[in-house]
Amino acid sequence: MRKGIYPGSFDPVTFGHLDIIRRASDLVDELVIAVLRNNAKKGLFSVEERMEFLERVTEGISNVKVISFDGLLVDCAVEYGTHTIIRGLRAVTDFEYELQLAQTNKRLRPDIDTVFLTTNVQYAYLSSSVVREIAGYGGDISHFVPECIIKDVYKKVK
Ligand code: PNS
Repeated sequence: MRKGIYPGSFDPVTFGHLDIIRRASDLVDELVIAVLRNNAKKGLFSVEERMEFLERVTEGISNVKVISFDGLLVDCAVEYGTHTIIRGLRAVTDFEYELQLAQTNKRLRPDIDTVFLTTNVQYAYLSSSVVREIAGYGGDISHFVPECIIKDVYKKVK
């Protein structure tokens, strides 16, 4: 069984994430979506809320599983039986950070590889922080996040 892990903060999940999830889930038999529990970086949404949003937006995708993790991503990958980390690349500005992450993970666990999917150009500008900011000012986020979480995003920022 071919498994992949798609890690991130997902604070909150966006159409850009969902695009990567859909395409990655076609490449593997099971895709583990791993939400980072990072006590140092307080997000807008709790980890439980982010996981619940991810579960909601991926309801129609049968081979995904949403989990959270603490500590090293490579350890989480091993725990879930995968050697393939999936990350999205939006633009060249992502590249340096992503390369450092991938190379560090490779140094820590040479048997684990990172596979990059280029984000659909339609979402190249999109990030969770853009969504949080626009929602905070009461702007329209319907182009950025799935409809089923819009109400909850506004509720949180108000
Ligand atoms: O969505 P993000 O915030 O860009 O995701 C970053 C993430 C979660 C992939 C990264 O911070 C991570 O893997 N953190 C876990 C700690 C770790 O394994 N660090 C080692 C590589 S530097």
